[in-house]
Amino acid sequence: MTARSVIVGTGRGVPERVLTNSDLEKMVDTTDAWIVERTGIRERRLIRQGQKTSDLATTAGREACRKAGIDPKTLECIIVTTVTPDRPLPCTAVMVQKNLGANGCAAFDLAAACAGFIYGMSLADALIQKGQYQRVLVVGVEVLSPVIDWTDRNTCVLFGDGAGAAVFVKGPEGGDRGVWSTHLFADGDGAEFLCIPGGGTAMPASPQSVAERQHFVKMQGREVFKHAVRNMSRAAQVALEHNHLTPAELDRVVVHQANMRIIEAVAKQASLPLEKFYLNIERYGNTSSASIPIAVDEATEAGKVKQGDLVLMAALGAGFSWGSAVVRL
Ligand code: ACO
Repeated sequence: MTARSVIVGTGRGVPERVLTNSDLEKMVDTTDAWIVERTGIRERRLIRQGQKTSDLATTAGREACRKAGIDPKTLECIIVTTVTPDRPLPCTAVMVQKNLGANGCAAFDLAAACAGFIYGMSLADALIQKGQYQRVLVVGVEVLSPVIDWTDRNTCVLFGDGAGAAVFVKGPEGGDRGVWSTHLFADGDGAEFLCIPGGGTAMPASPQSVAERQHFVKMQGREVFKHAVRNMSRAAQVALEHNHLTPAELDRVVVHQANMRIIEAVAKQASLPLEKFYLNIERYGNTSSASIPIAVDEATEAGKVKQGDLVLMAALGAGFSWGSAVVRL
């Protein structure tokens, strides 16, 4: 008999500032109709001046702890999944730890782009299964607005800022609630299709790198689209096969909110009924590693998922990195 890692609380930290498609029409050569038809996005949230990744992550983490009925000071490990940290050094997780007053526990960042939360959940589960920790906070957070080129209509319409969090604890022996499986994948051959070329050791910041706009997200949208559909569908199927489940046995599907057309294609390819999907892409755009935990938290609050529901999750992001999970909430 095993004790599963159970999600006992979720939270989110989303900025108040809203950028609508009609706002974008004034910034780049685009239309609300084009964005809605190609992506399903109507608006996204952006930080205000001075707000940081750790601020959103702290709000989400604090809320998750509150709903879990857990004092943040008793957390044993904080994993912050992000590719947009406050600073290159130190990691954002230590700032979240400090803000939560959880000083002393393990805290580190994990970078797997839009698949970050699935990777973080997998690691939290492994640490709990190993017996190393009993209470782990995973925060998926992204502040993409400073690394988006607001003159590039190919990318700027897609992304938003936000944070979502979940507290994982060791459940009872033989319990059915909790993480049933996680499957993680990556393929570095896709690295150039979605990247920020500058700012790391490959291209340290210089006047030239700034002038050439190398510190912004560059994307080949069609390639990303193809890989996202193929790999998320396959990862979803792997998760179902591993747990001997049929789509009919799932209560909900929560996939990375990248693009409505990607989600529809994944549903079709993996034979998952679209009516089981929780969708909020039209209000947030793509918040990368924050998208799944924000969706789970919202769905819980709205009564669209409840304790005991069996949920399939899948995500793909830059790398490419992708994965899937089955969780009984
Ligand atoms: N408004 C108006 N026209 C636009 C815009 C825009 N915002 N963006 C691109 N276009 C134009 C292009 O310039 C092109 O014009 P052209 O034919 O004159 O050159 C035309 O629209 C078609 O461009 P495509 O790139 O072929 O359009 P496509 O149908 O592939 O849609 C999109 C583009 C939405 C980016 C799509 O490729 C996509 O969704 N890709 C996945 C991207 C994604 O989700 N990335 C997120 C990160 S990874 C992840 O989370 C999975």
